Amino acid sequence: MTVVLSTISAARQWMRTERSAGKTIGLVPTMGALHEGHLSLFRQARQRCDCVIASIFVNPLQFGPTEDYDHYPRNLDHDMTLAEQEKLNAIFHPEAREMYPQPPQITVSPGRFGELLCGVSRPGHFQGVATVVAKLFNILQPNVAFFGQKDAQQAIIVQRMAQDLNFPVAIEICPIVREPDGLAMSSRNQYLNAADRVRATVLYQALRRAERLIRSGVRDAIQVEREMQEVIATTPGVELDYARVVDRQSLQDVSEVTGEVLLAVAARFGRTRLIDNMIVVPEG
Ligand code: PAF
Repeated sequence: MTVVLSTISAARQWMRTERSAGKTIGLVPTMGALHEGHLSLFRQARQRCDCVIASIFVNPLQFGPTEDYDHYPRNLDHDMTLAEQEKLNAIFHPEAREMYPQPPQITVSPGRFGELLCGVSRPGHFQGVATVVAKLFNILQPNVAFFGQKDAQQAIIVQRMAQDLNFPVAIEICPIVREPDGLAMSSRNQYLNAADRVRATVLYQALRRAERLIRSGVRDAIQVEREMQEVIATTPGVELDYARVVDRQSLQDVSEVTGEVLLAVAARFGRTRLIDNMIVVPEG
């Protein structure tokens, strides 16, 4: 039986009860609209921790004024069915006014990590993410928190936040889960119409093309970026946001692929913006 906790005090009480019983707590922060990607995080959390709580909270702070906060898919019944199936111990599902009774004045700045890649077209987004994740860590005090590699920049920012601000939580990053045709699972995939759903596979195709180039010995990052850009931008109906080769940890541009790199892409399909990435280690 999965308990639904909708207030911070109920969530804290639940956390204290589990902790005093000597149990370790795994947290999977989500915005709901659960899919196989989330389920893989739940399963990982169940393996590692005695009890698992998922938060379902569409965080207004991480949406820009013209973004999809109002339309973001919300379906608690569907999410609860999956939570029960996956034997989650609890769901933390607060209202926005519970999390933000007043507009927050004190927030967490992700520094330069928030200004790169997705931060360019989504100013303030990662500050909103870091702030809500810090609040969730403070409220639920998990031993381990689980995030998906699909949101690579978010994962790096959360890891750095936990290190830099000394949160006593281990951060575990779990692999991307893909549809059979390669499209990375995302709650926003459900916005895609049939034509855009087909086009959306171009992100994975671009990553695979770049991976093959690097494996074949190409080391010039600009060349690799150009190839990815071409694959995406030449697909009719797709608007490229970025296609970059960056250092896996610092997310800074690299000119030569000498070590582990993150290939990161983002594009718009109609009004839907999707991202994807791949970590590649050059051979030899
Ligand atoms: O990845 C998400 O779903 C969100 O950014 C997160 C981590 C739950 C914070 O709102």
